[in-house]
Amino acid sequence: TGKKDLAQNTVLVTAGGTREPIDPVRYISNRSSGKMGYALAETAAKRGAKVYLVSAPTSLAVPAGVHVINVETAEQMYRAVMELYPGVDVVVKAAAVADYRPRVTAAQKIKKNDAGMVLELEKNTDILMELGKRKKHQLLVGFAAETEDLIKNAREKISKKNLDLLVANDVTRPGAGFGSDTNLVHILYPDGKVEKLPLMDKLALSEVIWDKVIRLKEGKK
Ligand code: PMT
Repeated sequence: TGKKDLAQNTVLVTAGGTREPIDPVRYISNRSSGKMGYALAETAAKRGAKVYLVSAPTSLAVPAGVHVINVETAEQMYRAVMELYPGVDVVVKAAAVADYRPRVTAAQKIKKNDAGMVLELEKNTDILMELGKRKKHQLLVGFAAETEDLIKNAREKISKKNLDLLVANDVTRPGAGFGSDTNLVHILYPDGKVEKLPLMDKLALSEVIWDKVIRLKEGKK
């Protein structure tokens, strides 16, 4: 479209699935490809925003004009995001952050033996929750990846994490969520309003999300 309606805005997008190391050769992660977050970064840059993309490992090329900060673990993502937070206007958290990490990372490759093995996990910080607690001028957009009770679970996340907008995807639907080029989402607002969007390409959905961010910044929706 060529419109530069995000000029004057600095935005922070997170993307990809964090990796939580078990030992030097193994990790725990999830099915995020990074496509949703990279699409958001690409469209924001095209619309004139200054864009920081805090990215967990993906196989995607960094979109033109986007400043990328590569991280691996949830803890590294947390630190990168917190450092940038005071200077940004909008945060969109499309990354799939691991909720747990191995309690210890073995220094050497773990040897197999005849018995089974138990891996002890501890909780990662909820980055978005921390952002919600420290929110000042920023507009905060979260995602919710659900496999059941989509709207109910998403409503809990929007209030608990103090969000301005939440994009909820039912990741069990064909063409939605992890890995696909398309997504199928509901958009939720803190006042309880819910909008159902049709199945869309992730780039097209990103444009819609930025449209809604701009409307919110203008005090409308
Ligand atoms: O990357 P793709 O293959 O394109 O797939 C896109 C996607 C399915 C990953 C994306 O659309 C999506 O839903 N991202 C959020 C996935 C997720 O972690 O959802 P959640 O419901 O577990 O978490 C809710 C929100 O809290 C998310 O914005 C998440 O970034 C954030 N969170 C979660 C845990 C944590 N420790 N810190 C966080 O900030």
